[in-house]
Amino acid sequence: MWNERPTIENIARYEGQEIVLKGWLYNMRSSGKLHFLQVRDGTGVMQCVVFKGNVTPEVFETAAALKQESSLVVRGKIRVDARSPIGFEMDVVDLKATHIPDVDYPISPKEHGTAFLMDHRHLWLRSSRQQAILRIRAELIRQIRAYFDANGFLLLDAPIFTPSACEGTTTLFETDYVDGSKAYLTQSGQLYMEAGAAAFGRVYCFGPTFRAEKSKTRRHLTEFWMVEPEVAHIGLDEDMDLAEDFLVSIVQGVVANRRKELAALERDIAALERVQKPFARISYTEAVERLQQAGMPVRWGEDFGGDEETVLANQFDRPVMIHRYPAECKAFYMKTDPDDLKCALCVDVLAPEGYGEIIGGGQREDDYDTLLKKIRTHGLSEEAFGWYLDLRRYGTVPHAGFGLGVERTLGWICGLPHVRETIPFPRLMQRVTP
Ligand code: 4AD
Ligand code: MG
Repeated sequence: MWNERPTIENIARYEGQEIVLKGWLYNMRSSGKLHFLQVRDGTGVMQCVVFKGNVTPEVFETAAALKQESSLVVRGKIRVDARSPIGFEMDVVDLKATHIPDVDYPISPKEHGTAFLMDHRHLWLRSSRQQAILRIRAELIRQIRAYFDANGFLLLDAPIFTPSACEGTTTLFETDYVDGSKAYLTQSGQLYMEAGAAAFGRVYCFGPTFRAEKSKTRRHLTEFWMVEPEVAHIGLDEDMDLAEDFLVSIVQGVVANRRKELAALERDIAALERVQKPFARISYTEAVERLQQAGMPVRWGEDFGGDEETVLANQFDRPVMIHRYPAECKAFYMKTDPDDLKCALCVDVLAPEGYGEIIGGGQREDDYDTLLKKIRTHGLSEEAFGWYLDLRRYGTVPHAGFGLGVERTLGWICGLPHVRETIPFPRLMQRVTP
């Protein structure tokens, strides 16, 4: 039903027909008897030509008085135009301006600074570059859901209010809960997905997660979206197989369905097309050797920062998997590598071209006593994790999963310098508006 209404995106269906389009004025130029209106309707931009001989004098004057972002209703005939970027134009026969702003629109085609644009994010969303990015975002999310839905994973929503930390207490958002106790905004749905995997076998959650990141980097948001699959009866190797298959599927799906938008962003699409199996899998220990050979002053036992990740990722033409980090760098729930007790059975997937970690995951500790010890040595509350320990008391099995951050992945796919443009209304260390 809704899709039968004419939009610029599906304008080819209306060639030769007279239609009504509702939208906004994106841009305009005039010469004598002609006004060339660039009209956007949210699905695209189309040139609508107002020729003095085709309309009443009032309509011609209305067109002349339009301002950027005036809201309009245009009626006219759709015809093929070889010079048009979308292949079609409208010859206008009637036009109504439903609202003409009193003042000039703040975002003009000239360059604006980032702070100004971020303050006007509610309006910035109307510009064609932001539209391309957010359309690619919607497609990426669709591909993510489609992958898990097609592969026998049950969607299981994790709670946002949680009783405890999952990814360390330093980035925990505390809230005053209704009963006077403290609740924390979720850092990850993983622990709940472990309950889900024991209940349903293969599950995933997909929602917003929160980290009180006190870092102003190009890849940290305080609120970001993460998809987290969790699977019973698998170990680290199969977890890496899943991450690899999943990443190839979503990247190629986005490339296939959003080629036009990627081209508009001037993204090197060939670099994305190289994202094919297999990805290199190297251990943390090998990664440290590679970094040292590249002249980086890193020592075994230290976690990698953005610089180390960039140097490593640049050695490969597609994502690379780094597995078995020192257990000390990682969260309490990671299973220890039985072949090297200093290491955890975990994996980070690094995106190429300097984008760094987009996936973190691994095999979970499934032994009750070992997990209890880890909870104690990490200084976590045994009481808060009682339910989580229960999963090890009743039918415990090996299980693994991972989390993929949507915004970092989208930043890489779109080739953007900062995650702030990858989410409609970014929440950063120093920004919670608009
Ligand atoms: O590596 P992380 O912290 O892993 C977890 O949270 C696991 N519990 C996931 C799991 O195994 N189910 O985060 C996973 C991903 C990162 O690789 C990154 O893509 C993204 O989440 N991420 C962030 N994205 C934007 N801003 C931040 N502050 C982020 N922190 C993590
Ligand atoms: Mg991580």
